[in-house]
Amino acid sequence: MFDGVARRYDVTNTVLSLGLDRHWRTRTRQCLELLPGQRVLDLAAGTGVSTAELQRSGAVAIGCDFSLGMLRAGKASRRRREVPFVAGDGMHLPFADSVFEAATIAFGLRNVADVRMALRELARVVRPGGRLVVCEFSRPTLRAFRVLYLNYLMRILPWIARRVSSNSDAYVYLAETIRAWPAQDELARTIAGCGWHEVRFRNLSGGIVALHLAERA
Ligand SMILES: C[S@@+](CC[C@H](N)C(=O)[O-])C[C@H]1O[C@@H](n2cnc3c(N)ncnc32)[C@H](O)[C@@H]1O
Repeated sequence: MFDGVARRYDVTNTVLSLGLDRHWRTRTRQCLELLPGQRVLDLAAGTGVSTAELQRSGAVAIGCDFSLGMLRAGKASRRRREVPFVAGDGMHLPFADSVFEAATIAFGLRNVADVRMALRELARVVRPGGRLVVCEFSRPTLRAFRVLYLNYLMRILPWIARRVSSNSDAYVYLAETIRAWPAQDELARTIAGCGWHEVRFRNLSGGIVALHLAERA
């Protein structure tokens, strides 16, 4: 499915999120508090838009994804020439133990077939004391806003996607997976059960997105 959306992935995201995706990525980078030269894994990197943002900190950011279509679209972009990509499955990462100072997954955990397995794999490749930031769609905190947002998600978003995306069905899937995804507290408990501690979260844009932060136990 991701191979099918790769060609217009970046622009579709920016249109559907009304430009907010840039802000969410910046906040993810800031939360990771990376130092120049530190190694950070960006799992489910897709076209590398999230990886390129991490590189702005001076860290060595490696993008990993199992969709060759997404990785190729990233490689074809002039702005991503310097991004190192590795093809790999988040549930069986092609890296040795404890080789990264930090890891992140932006809008990807929801798509992984076995969320716990991916979280445990991330814990395996991050050194003890290293950091994790999960950036993912979440549950708006105010009830009235949540109703409006769900209407946008289920009605307006698929309509816009039909006009912008290279595979609009994928955006119906997007809306459905966002609706089915656990709320902030529940995801925090899942992360804590998979080799991470000090789990906490910050809501962005009223809870449309949440950043879950954790440290490797
Ligand atoms: C919505 S994209 C996110 C891309 C990017 N991180 C961003 O912020 O735009 C989700 C990505 O998750 C990847 N993905 C899903 N399951 C995966 C897995 N098991 N291993 C690696 N990548 C996976 C898909 O191929 C896709 O590129």
